[in-house]
Amino acid sequence: MPEPLHVKVFRFNPENDVAPTFDHFQVPVFDNMAILDVVMHIQNYLDRSLSFRFSCRIGMCGSCAMYVNGRARLACRTQVSSLKTRAITIMPLPNFPIIRDLVVDMEPFFDKWKKIRPYYVPKKEIDRPVTVQPDSNEREFIDDMLDCISCGCCYSACSMVATHKDYLGPAALNRAYTLIADKRDAIRVDRLKAVDRSYGVWRCHTQFNCAEVCPKNIVPTRSIQNLKRRCVLKKFGVFK
Ligand code: FES
Repeated sequence: MPEPLHVKVFRFNPENDVAPTFDHFQVPVFDNMAILDVVMHIQNYLDRSLSFRFSCRIGMCGSCAMYVNGRARLACRTQVSSLKTRAITIMPLPNFPIIRDLVVDMEPFFDKWKKIRPYYVPKKEIDRPVTVQPDSNEREFIDDMLDCISCGCCYSACSMVATHKDYLGPAALNRAYTLIADKRDAIRVDRLKAVDRSYGVWRCHTQFNCAEVCPKNIVPTRSIQNLKRRCVLKKFGVFK
């Protein structure tokens, strides 16, 4: 029998607890085991009260993000073997209010998305669906940025989010950029105004923490730098 995993899990139930604690579990290991399997084993066999979130199990919905061994990760896509240790510490994502155990409140995160109006608004003169060719320059330029699954990993890793509660954060700014780069969008100038603020693009200190943890390999810092450039062009009247 292989040595079991020694798992330390953050616990906090605001209805009963005055402060968070850690519980310790021993979990049998199997081939291709993911962190999501670890917490499911605990919930199924060791402690039914453990709370966490997941849905798709294939790295698409973004709901299973957790802070595992000091780094934000998708629980369903993180293989236990990749951690190279039997000692695993699982905590909720930093920079989010905690609802219970590993479940965080995503509302402040999505409130910031709302500020950049994260949906496409067609220009009035466009009266039929527009096709964007997948191999067009315009599409290729934002291709990887469109893969965001709103898991919140980047937001949890950002030291500017940690120190400025109003900062829009890397995910919302990345989304804003994909829309501002789209010439068919009717409100791209208004969108740019929404991010051209001290708590918008100018708060980013280009530390790349967001890019380091993104499970989709997006580099939000690049989107933010592109937004900064467009803000400057707008000041000179070159961006329309
Ligand atoms: S459960 Fe959907 S991304 Fe992990």
